[in-house]
Amino acid sequence: MKIGICNDHAGVEYKNRLVEYLTGKGYEMVNFGTDTTDSMDYPDVAHPLATAVENGEVELGIAFCGTGNGMAMALNHHQGIRAGLCWSVEIGKLIKQHNNANVLVMPARFIPFETVLEITDAWLGEEFEGGRHQGRIDKIPCK
Ligand code: RB5
Repeated sequence: MKIGICNDHAGVEYKNRLVEYLTGKGYEMVNFGTDTTDSMDYPDVAHPLATAVENGEVELGIAFCGTGNGMAMALNHHQGIRAGLCWSVEIGKLIKQHNNANVLVMPARFIPFETVLEITDAWLGEEFEGGRHQGRIDKIPCK
């Protein structure tokens, strides 16, 4: 599976460590983030990642910024994106089961890297439940 990943300056270290982890598990990672800790604007990398998910260049996306909120806000402006902000394993499971989140967003400055690995594994390992949740996510895009 091809996964796009993006980050601002606050998420460089976690991005690099997660790319190494997921590449080792056989995922093909496409980097849309910055590779330096120089201050930059998260929308400049969030929008290219969102577009890549929307057009099928990558199947899923992962994004880091300091709080995760800037990335989630920018990503969710795209009609085809359901970006879920996660800080616990349980939420990581639920954003797939209930929201079929196609981008996982995590707050690099507020969770330890071990939690990043646990959340990522949980999100990737779950299935969307469909049913009543399908009708709900169908209502998300603005007409
Ligand atoms: C950068 O300092 C910080 O504002 C950014 O990483 C993010 O938290 C924004 O939402």
